[in-house]
Amino acid sequence: MRVAEVNQEDLKPFIAGLPKAELHMHIEGSLEPEMMFALAERNGVDLSFKSVEETRAAYNFGCLQEFLDLFFQGMAVLCSEQDFYDLTWAYFKRAHADNVRHAEKFFDPQGHTCRGIDFETVLRGIQQARADAERELGITSELIMCFWRHLSEEDACKTLELAKPFREGIVGIGLDAAEQDNPPRKFASVYKQAREQGYRLLAHAGEEGPASYVEEAIDLLKVDRIDHGNATLDDPELTRRIAGEGTVLTVCPLSNVKLAVVDEMHRHPLKTMLEHGLAVTVNSDDPAYFGGYVNDNYVAVQQALGLTVDELHRIARNSFNGAFLDEYAKAAHLDELDAYVATYR
Ligand code: ADE
Ligand code: ZN
Repeated sequence: MRVAEVNQEDLKPFIAGLPKAELHMHIEGSLEPEMMFALAERNGVDLSFKSVEETRAAYNFGCLQEFLDLFFQGMAVLCSEQDFYDLTWAYFKRAHADNVRHAEKFFDPQGHTCRGIDFETVLRGIQQARADAERELGITSELIMCFWRHLSEEDACKTLELAKPFREGIVGIGLDAAEQDNPPRKFASVYKQAREQGYRLLAHAGEEGPASYVEEAIDLLKVDRIDHGNATLDDPELTRRIAGEGTVLTVCPLSNVKLAVVDEMHRHPLKTMLEHGLAVTVNSDDPAYFGGYVNDNYVAVQQALGLTVDELHRIARNSFNGAFLDEYAKAAHLDELDAYVATYR
């Protein structure tokens, strides 16, 4: 019997109303094919696919690299400040519908500067949308700059330098793209510099890579959170350690299935991670590519693994506790969340 058959309660309405933070999504990964075609036309960019339908039909990935190849192509339609604004605003509207109260978003500056787009153009568009989302939708947010790990550490250092004038608007740095054969230690020196400049530190680790990459990210890069971290469970000692230390893991269930990190949702490790005391959260990663926004991710794991109201409550609590929010804001979000769960019961 599949676990899903054990807990048949329909928790979709509960998830829909659950106040939550989203801590792992790439803003370029929220580029829906409809917007990709509109921006391609606006900017005179050629796309390899003929239609929105053909584009969506191509979103079948055997591994992370197959996704990255299309993801890099897609982001080439983003050229002007207005494009970055439109993209980011569209995400916030969608997140608002999912009762996201606070969002921490990645962006990939090297994917834009390598095409001749100024760092400032990217930043201004995203920051304007963040300000509008806070004022009009009541969603607070933070921005995290990721380095592409298949590029050199020197390139990452140059990007850190480019970000200096915009330091105030960027809360942290992350590490994304091809994980295999690009271990965290490759970036130890740029992380040290970023730490000295006061950035919060994150890294994708243990998505396609081994548990030892999770350990390296913690010990060498000194990260505040781990993005994904699925492979942690392969190392019982590491699992005990980071459960004890309360390290937050930003898990992305639909992404994991789409990228064949997990073969089927009912075999997703999220429930086991919770049982081992890991501080897991649920996130959408690249919602336009993986078939769903944050609530779709909650619903997919809830149904496949039979997650209970208590478990969903814990996950949402972890999302606020793991956010780069001050203690007052955290407490206010947690109070609202606890009251919501109490009313539901
Ligand atoms: N960039 C966008 N999505 C990613 C993922 N899931 N893993 C690594 N890099 C990414
Ligand atoms: Zn990611």
